[in-house]
Amino acid sequence: MSEEYDVIVIGAGPGGYVAAIRSAKLGLKTLVIEKESHLGGTCLNVGCIPSKTLLYYSEQFYEDQSHRTKYGLEFSEMKMNFEKLMQTKGGVIKGLNMGIGGLLKKNKVTHKIGHARFKSSTEIEIDGKDASTVTGKNIIIATGSAPRDLPDLPFDETTVISSTGALSLKSVPKKLAVIGAGVIGLELGSVYQRLGAEVVFVEALDHIGGNLDAAISKALQKSLEKQGLKFHLGHKVTKAEKKESSVEIDAESSSGEKLQIQADVVLVSIGRSPYTNELNLEAAGVEKDDRGFIKINNQLQTSAANVYAIGDVVDGPMLAHKASEEGVAVAEKIAGHNPSVNYLAIPNVIYTAPEVATVGFTAEEAKGHGLKVKVGNFPFLANSRAHCVDAKDGMVIVVAEEETDRILGLHIMSEHAGEMIAVGSLALEMGVTAKKLGQLCFAHPTFSEAIKEAALAVHKEAIHF
Ligand code: FAD
Ligand code: NAI
Repeated sequence: MSEEYDVIVIGAGPGGYVAAIRSAKLGLKTLVIEKESHLGGTCLNVGCIPSKTLLYYSEQFYEDQSHRTKYGLEFSEMKMNFEKLMQTKGGVIKGLNMGIGGLLKKNKVTHKIGHARFKSSTEIEIDGKDASTVTGKNIIIATGSAPRDLPDLPFDETTVISSTGALSLKSVPKKLAVIGAGVIGLELGSVYQRLGAEVVFVEALDHIGGNLDAAISKALQKSLEKQGLKFHLGHKVTKAEKKESSVEIDAESSSGEKLQIQADVVLVSIGRSPYTNELNLEAAGVEKDDRGFIKINNQLQTSAANVYAIGDVVDGPMLAHKASEEGVAVAEKIAGHNPSVNYLAIPNVIYTAPEVATVGFTAEEAKGHGLKVKVGNFPFLANSRAHCVDAKDGMVIVVAEEETDRILGLHIMSEHAGEMIAVGSLALEMGVTAKKLGQLCFAHPTFSEAIKEAALAVHKEAIHF
């Protein structure tokens, strides 16, 4: 007889393992199935955590190399031990892997290792170490996403790399070409530029960073160019060819301008695709849309009523915390609660230096939704803490609804923007007005004082600008 569960979660990334823990905490008998021997999914193993570890240490190295002597801090030459840096990254992942294992155990979530495959909407066959067939009253698909490649340039993960390869290179390339100046390209391009590579971007759009506020996108590009990153914008890669020890890339602009780049390593970061390989969704009656995402309703329910899908495998922002929020919501729905996810209040951070963090609508997006807005803008050039630490690039933009003064968006480019953006999520969640945010007292001298000033600027009342 197959083992029976209230909830079976497929995939132990930040969507899946969080859904499993929340389900167990709500008293549901829960199983999580993961095909890899390690827990934590893309985020912990080949995504958020390794990239942020490399970003942090490469920034320390770059700052010490290029800047500190100018402020009167002198020390003998600093060297980079790339192998040790990669080992440091591995150690961080291992520690957190064990942490998730401990959490599953503590919450009495059963964990099986193997590839899950639907036999019906309630039955799952596990193929691998813990091979068996299990039955679930409810099933949550949290199988994530995988990097997209270019049709004529498949990943070999040594010269043509995805983010996964970029997180495990054996040495720093002399020249790295990055196709796509979205989040992955900007973050991992920054890492290798700081470690000594010449980094050149080819981006189809005429701006970097996807849907960022236009002023922030421009300011970020300028700041990254100062650091040495080079951008060819408005150029779509048309052909790419692997040569003996390099890769040749041809790109073309919409006006027909041609570009050719040669590099010893190419990072292809042109987006990710939902991952549903060999899940046998048909057996469960679970449908996908034409881009391969699992179709869901506003309750995260698939076309099979007892099967839910969360995280990167469904349409929406591909973010770890979004996957986790959806995991919690589904667990609570299964337990009979009435949860909801406020997608507008989900923040987004690009961990470049300076960071860019956004939540809610840009002014353009708000207008696109038929909303009339007022905008407050405050530059870090006018923030005293930014002067203390010579980090004056960037700004805060507050977008508020004209009629109600309710905050619709907060956009920050600066050091620590990823930490500060929580103020914006709170403001959106609680329906705070720009007036009220401008009345909040922030400690001095801090970067976050710029949030208060930008909120005051919505009513043309900023003090320092
Ligand atoms: P995943 O984390 O992809 O987990 C899915 C899991 O399902 C995997 O472990 C997989 O092995 C397993 N699986 C798949 N199919 C099966 C099957 N049939 N049977 C059993 N198991 C299966 N997001 C952020 O919010 N912040 C960041 O800083 C950030 N940085 C990133 C950096 C990089 C380089 C990349 C690539 C991504 C980054 N992301 C970041 C995105 C983030 O990693 C994803 O949004 C997040 O991991 C999605 O979570 P998930 O649970 O939906 O899927
Ligand atoms: P992306 O969607 O952010 O950027 C891809 C870029 O490639 C776009 O700007 C696009 O215009 C460009 N592009 C596509 N085809 C092209 C071509 N043929 N030639 C030139 N340019 C081309 O995708 P990315 O960077 O791969 O990241 C995938 C996902 O991972 C993101 O959606 C993000 O949500 C997640 N992620 C999140 C991070 C974070 O939260 N800090 C960090 C890294 C990834």
